[in-house]
Amino acid sequence: MTAQEPGLPMVVPAQDLPGRVRIHEVGPRDGLQNEKTTVPTEVKAEFIRRLADAGLTTIEATSFVHPKWVPQLADAEELFPQVRDLRGVHLPVLVPNTRGLDRALALGARRLAVFASATESFAKANLNRTVEESLAVFAPVVGRAKDEGAHVRGYVSMCFGDPWEGAVPLHQVVHVCRALLDMGCDELSLGDTIGVATPGHVLELLSALNESGVPTNVIGVHFHDTYGQALANTYAALEHGVTTVDASAGGLGGCPYAKSATGNLATEDLVWMLQGLGIETGVDLGRLVATSAWMAERLGRPSPSRTLRALSHKEL
Ligand code: HMG
Ligand code: MG
Repeated sequence: MTAQEPGLPMVVPAQDLPGRVRIHEVGPRDGLQNEKTTVPTEVKAEFIRRLADAGLTTIEATSFVHPKWVPQLADAEELFPQVRDLRGVHLPVLVPNTRGLDRALALGARRLAVFASATESFAKANLNRTVEESLAVFAPVVGRAKDEGAHVRGYVSMCFGDPWEGAVPLHQVVHVCRALLDMGCDELSLGDTIGVATPGHVLELLSALNESGVPTNVIGVHFHDTYGQALANTYAALEHGVTTVDASAGGLGGCPYAKSATGNLATEDLVWMLQGLGIETGVDLGRLVATSAWMAERLGRPSPSRTLRALSHKEL
């Protein structure tokens, strides 16, 4: 145990957890994509710069999707050049097809993400394709991205439950994960799009993936906090050896194509827990809280992050 610093938790390491976690910050993309009022491009760029300044090194910047499907991110072409030269920061962007890939590569994006679904209903709602059709669209996208030397993440949505189909069988998730890796994805992100996962379910899926030959070191976890389980689920994943955790500054977010999806795990809440466990993230919690508070002001409503609320009342 080490002495407590103001605005930080007491550090009490637990056994058998990773020494370092890479936080994949999704606030500017997953966090903002559902906002009804258009956030000015300059505000988005400033948000990304402030997040980088707070020590986040992977910041998902935007999506090169059809502007009619996600109007909030229709400014990807204006935004990306404003931030792409930030030093020491990876700026992944979402691409749903070759059209999106062309747009992203033309601007020099070097970290890309395709986004698949474990269920037919969400594949249809989000991509206007069946699961297999969307995988067939992604294969040449991932192939070309790899030829261009890009790093590719493969998201899998609805890994733990689906608002239309209910329970999602493990084998469906494993199938899509395997398909994404086989086509060349460098890493996976397991999406609990509607936030229904609980820790035992997380461990069960991770074990099923390992048994099918998917190593833990290519797996990231992406929890939404609808039922307040995101941190507990994260802790279970850490115990299993996962070292990449997605989170959204201020707990912003939701998916426009998934009924009942709320914000992601708040990055502040994640950092508070990891810091208390003595796990390195490179993030300055005070700067992060200031950034999310600044963004909440821009959006005109308070952040749902508990840590942000607690620390906003203190001298940081
Ligand atoms: P579609 O209507 O089937 O598209 O949409 P299409 O292939 O039939 O093409 C129709 C027209 O759109 C064509 O134009 C294309 O060129 C154009 P036309 O020839 O008629 O003039 N088009 C594009 N234009 C710009 N950029 C593009 C693009 N693609 C086609 N990339 C499509 C299919 C995939 C495009 C559409 O469904 C789409 O954009 N979906 C995106 C939905 C989305 O972004 N959802 C949120 C992200 S996923 C998420 O949040 C979950 C995650 O966080 C993990 C979790 O929590 O689970 C990642
Ligand atoms: Mg999400």
